[in-house]
Amino acid sequence: MGYYTVEGGRKIGGEYTVHGSKNAVLPILAATLLAADEVVLENCPLISDFYASLEILKSLGCSVVLEGNTVTVDSVHISSCEIPEEQVSCMRSSILYLGALLGRKKEAKLGHPGGCVIGKRPIDLHLRAFEKMGVEITEKDNIFFCKSPKLLGYDIYLEFPSVGATENILLLAVKAEGTTVIHNAAREPEIIWLAKFLRACGAEIYGEGSPTIMIEGVRKLHGAYFSIPFDRIEAGTFLCASAITGGEIYLYGAEKQYMESTLEILDQMGCGQRADENGIFLQAPKRILSDFTLRTGPYPAFPTDMQPLMMSLLTLGKGTCMISETVFEARFRHVNELCKMGADIRMQGQNAAVFGVEKLYAAEVVGTDLRGTAALLLASLAAEGKSIVHGAEYMERGYEKIEDVLTSLGGKVHLIS
Ligand code: UD1
Repeated sequence: MGYYTVEGGRKIGGEYTVHGSKNAVLPILAATLLAADEVVLENCPLISDFYASLEILKSLGCSVVLEGNTVTVDSVHISSCEIPEEQVSCMRSSILYLGALLGRKKEAKLGHPGGCVIGKRPIDLHLRAFEKMGVEITEKDNIFFCKSPKLLGYDIYLEFPSVGATENILLLAVKAEGTTVIHNAAREPEIIWLAKFLRACGAEIYGEGSPTIMIEGVRKLHGAYFSIPFDRIEAGTFLCASAITGGEIYLYGAEKQYMESTLEILDQMGCGQRADENGIFLQAPKRILSDFTLRTGPYPAFPTDMQPLMMSLLTLGKGTCMISETVFEARFRHVNELCKMGADIRMQGQNAAVFGVEKLYAAEVVGTDLRGTAALLLASLAAEGKSIVHGAEYMERGYEKIEDVLTSLGGKVHLIS
């Protein structure tokens, strides 16, 4: 538990190299189990969800060696099929170990996954697909016991293009007998990167990045070397941090093709931008323009993870922005805290109207989830005076030493542990 002190009113700008992606490394770490061999992953982000995933792998019997941002996972000798309660209760992506373990060991035991409280976040789509592919699931006292004596490919239609369900089905299907087709699959870049990693291990996957993915099961996978691609949400966070403080920033490693909807909104706000083969440059306007609507949705629509961050920026806009959150039902938990800093936001259900104000003021605010806390940190960078932002434990799930990064970019941010 910790909090940040932030002296607002300083421009955030300069150059920064974006870290490896949180939402890419987590499923790929689960997938290392399927290799039953040595896997080397470079450019890993050193965040708490990454460390929690390494603990899961060690508890299952994998050898794990971390050197700098490179981790070597050797999963030849797995001794357990039980995913430890401690990690399951704090990290939703632990559900992906179910697909990977069933693919590898035909057996898995797991509690109900936790994570940030941003909605109901059920796992029905994962479990229904698993049952169709031959997994026997029993639940007792909120613990799932799963067995898969024979895994068979299946034609699966997802009611919603869930990122986690698509990843979990991919993990299971690569070792199933025959062909699996996922209809209405999630198209997020992290799905493409997971498929790329699995293919490097010998899997046969076609169509990732489109709504239909086909997987031909193989008997065995092998080790691989893979570099974790950039974190598009971390990149978006620093673009917003610079824009909200009137700065200019160049992000090395950020790729425009995976950030189109975020860049489109920043463009509507009047931010100058340029992308080249090395990264993305952004220049804030004198004042953000905000007379438009913003609707979150599955990729390629505007990412729900960017919504709280963009809302912070919009509080200082010239105009009124209507935001609709369509992916998670409890993703406006930062709104009341932003209002404590002088923002004018009115909510109704899944919609929020953000009426731009001229200034934000320092306050003591409390974050309750990862991106919501990041949104408060952004607002405090722009607010006059010294703010206190609680919720460092959420920030550490997704950002590597953000206080140091923001300070190196011109801010004055301290973490008080
Ligand atoms: C992933 C990301 C998260 C991001 C989200 C949406 C990781 C580690 N996390 O989360 O940062 O915000 O995608 O882009 O990659 N749903 C069901 N039943 C299911 C599964 C999901 O109803 O079985 C619903 C959820 O409650 C939610 C929606 O589908 O309303 C989207 O969830 P999903 O795409 O699965 O998100 P996650 O994989 O949890």
